[in-house]
Amino acid sequence: MTDQDGRIVVSGLAKTFGTVKAVDGLTFTVEPGSITGFLGPNGAGKTTTLRMLLGLVRPDAGTATIGGRAYTDLPAPSDRVGAVLEATAFHPARTGRAHLRIYSTINGYPGTRADEVLELVGLSGAGRRAVRGYSLGMRQRLALATALLGDPKVLVLDEPANGLDPEGIAWMRRLLRDLAAQGRAVLVSSHVLSEVQQLVDHVVIINRGRCVRQGPLTALADLHGPVVSVRTPDPDRLQTALIRIGVDEDRITRTGDQLRVTGIQADDVGQLAFAEQIPVLWLAAEQSDLEQVFFALTTDNGQQPALTATTGA
Ligand SMILES: Nc1ncnc2c1ncn2[C@@H]1O[C@H](COP(=O)(O)OP(=O)(O)OP(=O)(O)O)[C@@H](O)[C@H]1O
Ligand SMILES: [Mg+2]
Repeated sequence: MTDQDGRIVVSGLAKTFGTVKAVDGLTFTVEPGSITGFLGPNGAGKTTTLRMLLGLVRPDAGTATIGGRAYTDLPAPSDRVGAVLEATAFHPARTGRAHLRIYSTINGYPGTRADEVLELVGLSGAGRRAVRGYSLGMRQRLALATALLGDPKVLVLDEPANGLDPEGIAWMRRLLRDLAAQGRAVLVSSHVLSEVQQLVDHVVIINRGRCVRQGPLTALADLHGPVVSVRTPDPDRLQTALIRIGVDEDRITRTGDQLRVTGIQADDVGQLAFAEQIPVLWLAAEQSDLEQVFFALTTDNGQQPALTATTGA
């Protein structure tokens, strides 16, 4: 297989259900060797997009391909694409291991493969227990194990962090990082940016079926520029000095003796205070709040996010 086999290309994809434009002209690419977060609020169109990518829903317009072909045209698709969609159903009386062995047999994988993937997802201990006794997080792991059976080049995971505790999320992060480092393309959806923030290299953010932002995660952090907080016994003078050097008044928020300034580097605030001989008690560059950026991008002019505007997911 070449790298070409692992590239996901979504182009002009659209799907309407009744009067709801679930997906409305969506275009993005997922490269092998990277993890892309597919983000948007409830009802934004994530699952519908993934279902079209996997040939489960027919698009009204556009294409979604994996290695240049529609999923349904791929030879042995389960060897190439591992997918976990919402609410995977397992036979409750079956053990996790039995479930995996059945899938292995159907697809002609070696008999040892079930135990290998159980180990990979940390379910070796629970593998011989019936699935009915599994927690939500354990079911997520079993679904992921199923997706990994064919050692696929491409992974498509719909809300995989749902039901995982923080330790589980950290574990998934390591596993997906390893899988991407081996040259796989990984597409992971979530409605909570903070859940996948530590996981993804790239983001595709959608709202009401449309892309509102895509690119490296680091670029998202820079969107609102740097934020500096400073405490001074003379906030009036510092505020005046900041405005004089060209900082927009709207970018300064004052709380008591503290100023919070966006769009300026901490060094510049420090230098300015020094030059003006304004004492500084405390100065800090804030971490950009990605969740706020995400919320701003997916909320339409202060109105509600996608869910309430449509029929709901
Ligand atoms: N089979 C269907 N019939 C009718 N409407 C549908 C169908 N599938 C999805 N929709 C609608 O399309 C929109 C997008 O739904 P989708 O499930 O793709 O969103 P999502 O981003 O996955 O949301 P969530 O975060 O809640 O999983 C919603 O308004 C939903 O109600
Ligand atoms: Mg969904």
